[in-house]
Amino acid sequence: MAVSNHLWENVRKYVRIGNRVSELYHGERDDILRGLAEIVSENGIVYGVDQLNPFAQNKNMQELQSLSNIRLLKATLPSLPAEVSDLDGVLIREFIWTYPLPCNGSENPQTYQAINAALHVGGHLILPLNPVEQTAERGGHPMYQHTIRRQLPHFQKVYDREDLMVYQKTNSS
Ligand SMILES: C[S@@+](CC[C@H](N)C(=O)[O-])C[C@H]1O[C@@H](n2cnc3c(N)ncnc32)[C@H](O)[C@@H]1O
Repeated sequence: MAVSNHLWENVRKYVRIGNRVSELYHGERDDILRGLAEIVSENGIVYGVDQLNPFAQNKNMQELQSLSNIRLLKATLPSLPAEVSDLDGVLIREFIWTYPLPCNGSENPQTYQAINAALHVGGHLILPLNPVEQTAERGGHPMYQHTIRRQLPHFQKVYDREDLMVYQKTNSS
């Protein structure tokens, strides 16, 4: 899914210059990481976390490693590196990857605890939605929203339009 102007215009309302943010499960695509790095600027930091290390072969990802405000970290959720904490924002494109086996509908509470622990109170969980996800979430099969309500009940939805859904962490429990 290409990242739309609508998405970036609205992500900018939740991610600011100097923020500390992370993209989890980023895979080999560099567009979100680059966009976040541009928003947070040189005083901010973007942590990319993925269990694979796609950087050896992928030229775009190799280039990213040379940017001063991006750190690409190899880790397998629910474990997160210590520095991926006290974040202003966590972005996950294809939230389905938070399920241990995609599409089987099972949830590992520890994964959501890790996402919760990574964010400070007031921080945002930012979910870009592809067209299939948009149809499901707004057309009677809101799987992501149900999961967040069950696993992250103190996260409040603050934006839900087109290709973007945003939740805010409202307390520390
Ligand atoms: C389809 S890929 C890339 C999805 C990416 N968000 C995108 O929009 O292109 C899913 C990625 O999730 C990563 N992944 C799956 N389970 C993971 C886990 N438990 N911890 C960290 N990364 C994981 C895989 O290594 C893979 O790169």
